[in-house]
Formats: sequence, structure tokens, C-alpha cells
Amino acid sequence: MEPAINVTQSKFRKLRSFMKIDVLLGLQWGDEGKGKIVDVLTPKYNVIARFQGGPNAGHTLEFEGIKHVLHTIPSGIFHSDSENVIGNGVVIDPVIMEAELKALEPFNVDINKVLFVSRKAQLILPTHKLLDAASEAAKGKDKIGSTLKGIGPTYMDKTGRNGLRVGDIESDQFMAKYNKLKDKHIQLLGNFKFDYSELDALETAWMKSIELLRGLNLIDSEHFVNNRLKSNSSILAEGAQGSLLDVDFGSYPFVTSSNTVCAGACTGLGVAPNRIGDVYGIFKAYCTRVGSGPFPTELHDSVGEEIRKAGHEFGATTGRPRRCGWIDLPALKYAIMLNGVTQLIMTKADVLSGFSEINVCTHYMHKNEKIDYMPYDIISEEVTPVYHSVPGWEEDLTGMRSIDELPKSLMDYVEYLEGELEVPISIVSVGPDRTQTLMR
Ligand code: GDP
Ligand code: IMO
Ligand code: MG
Repeated sequence: MEPAINVTQSKFRKLRSFMKIDVLLGLQWGDEGKGKIVDVLTPKYNVIARFQGGPNAGHTLEFEGIKHVLHTIPSGIFHSDSENVIGNGVVIDPVIMEAELKALEPFNVDINKVLFVSRKAQLILPTHKLLDAASEAAKGKDKIGSTLKGIGPTYMDKTGRNGLRVGDIESDQFMAKYNKLKDKHIQLLGNFKFDYSELDALETAWMKSIELLRGLNLIDSEHFVNNRLKSNSSILAEGAQGSLLDVDFGSYPFVTSSNTVCAGACTGLGVAPNRIGDVYGIFKAYCTRVGSGPFPTELHDSVGEEIRKAGHEFGATTGRPRRCGWIDLPALKYAIMLNGVTQLIMTKADVLSGFSEINVCTHYMHKNEKIDYMPYDIISEEVTPVYHSVPGWEEDLTGMRSIDELPKSLMDYVEYLEGELEVPISIVSVGPDRTQTLMR
């Protein structure tokens, strides 16, 4: 009889030893500090790739006294040795991207060398933005609190199979396709009775930016990414928004229109699920949300106000004040489960300095029952947080540069969270700057 095939010796071994792609994503309602941490981790990676969302994201990086906010461009862009990919799952507004590229000009970023855009990424048209505004206006008090960047209408056209993709700009049919979609949108705007008199001006700017986009490296990103893996390049996928804004698992309908969870990296880049390696889940030492929708641990008192002030909690994209509250373990456990998180990163620990007591939501009261999970409906059915209180710390953490310097009560907080979440916290961030990042 023939011996059974020994896969470790066969020609298939090479397939099995492929590099994996790591994923970094937010575990709350966005703005966890993803941009900062991706920038810090980039020296470990050859490629940084965005896989979903679009200019609704605002990712802030700070180094050498300068603050940068990125919306579409991956947060590895300031490292000249790393390639940055905007994947097929992303939606792109060329006008916003042009402004981002312009803002990079003083910093000697060699865009031709380090930036690559998927032909399969969807384009946000000026009329998508108008439709977003019309839809929100029509919802009145039930509005989602969208960033009004056209995200929802663009993903609707993608799944409705009407969308315009980056690759279409290379086709001689581009204007015909554009006009067909625009006409459909104008009809819809008419139904909404929405004033679209600014469309001409928006369109002129958009067409100009399309010319710029045409000059960038347009790629078949699924091949690019998989070829890089084959040649042993390390890749970090950069999430946008947060797990609780995921279109399937977030607090629907108060969500964004993409899959923000780890699985989104597979569909948004064209990598197979068995190629996912480490999953970094990032969360704030407390919790924030911007826009409408349920937020069980939200603080409507002076403590919430103090956190907002200390944490400068104002949106990086819209400038709106962020709603602030205590950390929510049932929500974090849910996000960790959905994403298969292997390492946790806690940001903004410095913001809690000076609070004598820190509350941690361990359970909810729901229909007179104490539960430790997020129930189906947290919008019309009330959930009341049950808190466990831990001692705070007085020390200013922002000058600390090693874990050993951190106060004991903060380390107790970290260890308590690790025990509850059953995943190690490998990075603690104590300020917005690159250097304010402590590795454990
Ligand atoms: P992202 O969307 O997840 O990239 O996060 P944002 O950039 O929207 O929001 C995070 C904000 O907190 C930004 O202003 C960051 O500069 C800032 N930030 C990040 N980490 C820390 C930290 O550890 N402490 C403080 N104080 N600020 C931080
Ligand atoms: P980053 O990547 C925080 C919120 C909006 C709104 C809802 C839907 O910076 O963490 P959309 O514009 O997507 O239709 O808005 O989602 N939202 C975010 N909140 N951070 C973000 O991105 C967000 N992107 C969208 O406020 O409630
Ligand atoms: Mg943000």
C-alpha cells in the first residue's frame, strides 16, 4: 500500500507556511485611537491596508509636535519603507482624498512609491453625499447622526449593483456610467424634495479630483496583497469605525454601512480567513460615541463632561462633541468574540488621571434580570448598567515612558480588565503622541 501523504514534506507545505495578515480594529463605537497605534506599529510591517469605511473615518496621528488627521489614506503613510493600500472594501471620495494628499505635501511623502488604490474600491459621487443629507433630513429626530460623507448611499449602490468603481475611471465608458448613476440619484433627490442646487459646484471639484486619482497607482489589490504575503511581506489591516458600528452586529440601525469586524478584512482585501494572524483589539480606558444610537454607560452628568474635556472628545471628522461614559465589559466581550481578538490595546489611560473612582460596567439589568451580554434590542428596551467600582489614580501619566512607571492602581485596573476579558493587554497608551505608547 502507498504511504499516506506527509503534508509537511509535500509540495503543499509552502502554501501552509504563508505569511498571515494581522488586523487592528476598534472594539467600541470608533475613535479608539486606531490611527495613532497603526502609526506606532507600522515599522513592524511592510504593508498597511485599509479594508472598509471611507472618509467617515478620522484617524489622528501625532509626532514631532504635529497632528495629522487621515480619512481615506492608511495610517502607515508617514513611514517611507511601508506600502499603503486602500482596499476594495473602501469607499473613496476623490475630493477628500485630494485634500489629504495636499496636506501630505510638506512631509516629503513619495506617493508614487507608497500609496496603492484598489480598482475595486467604490467611488462616492457628489450625489451620494446629497442623498446622505436628504435621507438624514427625512428621518428627522430618528436620524443616524451620519458624518454626511455619503457612506450609506455609496454602499447601497455597491450592494444594489449600481456603483461606480475606481477602475471605471480607466474606461472610455466612464462618463456614461457616471451620468447614468447621477440621473438615478437626481430622481431620488426629487422624491426627497431635496434642494440639490449645489450639485454643479460639487461636480466640478469632483471631476478635477478624478483626474488626480487617475494618476495614482491603481491596482488589483487582492492580487497585490496576496502576492505580498507570498513573498513574505508582513501586512497590517487597519480597521475604521468600531465593532459596535458594524452593519450586522452594531446597534442597528445606528451603525455604519460596512462590516467593521475582522471578517471585513477578508472581504475588503480579498484575503482568505485562514490567512488572518494576530487581531489587535483597541479600546479606550472609558467609552465614547458620536452620532445617535444607544449607549448604555453614557454619562449625562459632570463626570461625562470632565471626561470629554480631559480627553478632548470632539470628532476628528465632524468636530461634533463625543458622548462619554464608563467602560462597558458586556459590549467589549461581544466585540472580542466577534473579532477573535488575540491582543488588546488600551488607549487614553491618561485621561482618567484624577478620578478617585473608576466605574466598570460588568452587567446590565434588562427586564428585571442581571445579564452579562448585549441583548438583541438595546434601543427600545432599556438596559441599565451594573457597575463595579475600582480605585483611580492621581498621577499624570503623559510623561511616563515605561510600564514600570505606571501607578499601581492603573496596573490593577489593567489586570482586572485582562481577567474579565480573558485577553492580554499588550499596549497601554498614555497620550496622543507616538512616544506616549507603553509596551508590556
Ligand atoms: P481613531 O479614529 O480610532 O484613529 O481615533 P481618533 O483619531 O478619531 O480619536 C482619538 C483621539 O485621541 C485623537 O485625538 C488622538 O490623538 C487621541 N489619542 C490617541 N491615543 C491617546 C491617548 O492614549 N491619550 C490621549 N490623551 N489621547 C489619545
Ligand atoms: P473612525 O474610523 C466614530 C458614526 C457616525 C454615525 C454612524 C454612521 O474615526 O473611528 P456614517 O457616516 O458611517 O453613515 O455614520 O457612525 N461613525 C463614526 N463614529 N468614529 C468613526 O470612524 C465613525 N464613522 C462613522 O457618527 O453615528
Ligand atoms: Mg476617528
